[in-house]
Amino acid sequence: MSSLNGRNILSISDLTQEEVKEVFQTADRVENLAWGQSYAEPMKGKVLATLFFEPSTRTRLSFETAMLRMGGQVISTTDQASSLEKGESFEDTGSVISRFADLMVWRHPAAGSAARFASRAKVPVINAGDGANEHPTQALLDLYSILKTQHLKTQEKMQGLKIGLIGDLKYGRAAHSLIRLLGLYSVQVYLISDPNLALPSLLRREAEEKGLTIVEAGNLKDVIGDLDVLYVTRIQKERFESESEYQRLRQGYQVSLDLLRRAKSSLSILHPLPRIDELPIEIDQDARAFYFDQVTYGVAVRMALLLLISGRVDRLEDLPSRRL
Ligand code: NCD
Repeated sequence: MSSLNGRNILSISDLTQEEVKEVFQTADRVENLAWGQSYAEPMKGKVLATLFFEPSTRTRLSFETAMLRMGGQVISTTDQASSLEKGESFEDTGSVISRFADLMVWRHPAAGSAARFASRAKVPVINAGDGANEHPTQALLDLYSILKTQHLKTQEKMQGLKIGLIGDLKYGRAAHSLIRLLGLYSVQVYLISDPNLALPSLLRREAEEKGLTIVEAGNLKDVIGDLDVLYVTRIQKERFESESEYQRLRQGYQVSLDLLRRAKSSLSILHPLPRIDELPIEIDQDARAFYFDQVTYGVAVRMALLLLISGRVDRLEDLPSRRL
């Protein structure tokens, strides 16, 4: 039985390198389900509850698709007029909803809310974003997308890879979880942001202590030729106190076709989405743009997590491999 069976996924730091490997090996086995090329029911009889109290389209639908394409069922609320609004605690909500479902996925603007929600739940909880804090499944799917698009068979092959993170490294929880995850490997990370949107120093120290090599860059132009992966992030408007500060800082960290002319032909351009104007649509046609495939890889990775956490991997044995 996997060590992930019955576990919460609240922070990416909860996972060891071995466990990440197991998630990726399982994701690889179910990828054709995620691409809609076959169908199987390893999650039959299981109910997933998704509770999203902050705007989301792809993350919630990605989890729900993962469950439904594996024969499981979903209950969901995005209701702002929920019991939380009446003043119910996160802990009570967790305790109650865990009586309806076998697994739960949580998103809320309060940092630390996922841990509180999980503290009295009777079933495993996956954090799908708690404020500016963490988004562990996004980091897993980002790393899986890096391996796939760089044609690396295993995580060990990542040694020496140069990965640039650009945009809002201060408030972007996807970047926070990704940097924590990359800390498990010998890669080089380039941080490209305005000083006002720099990675929190605590996170940076933590990554460096783990052995990650960090290079700070004021602009993309200077480093783009070095990179194997460019991970672009949105300026997190909703976390700014003033609109004018947001308007000032959103300038200057856009990717352009012109800049990409200096990049390697093997570069992988990734983005957690949604994008605003940091990644103009003309880049979508570039063979190095993988952010839409990344969405499908995300379904595969979430399928793998759901299977491993609920102890249903053994039901994959009769997975049909042919196209439907
Ligand atoms: C990210 C998030 O919600 O943190 N989006 C996502 O989950 N796909 C990134 C973002 O909102 O910028």
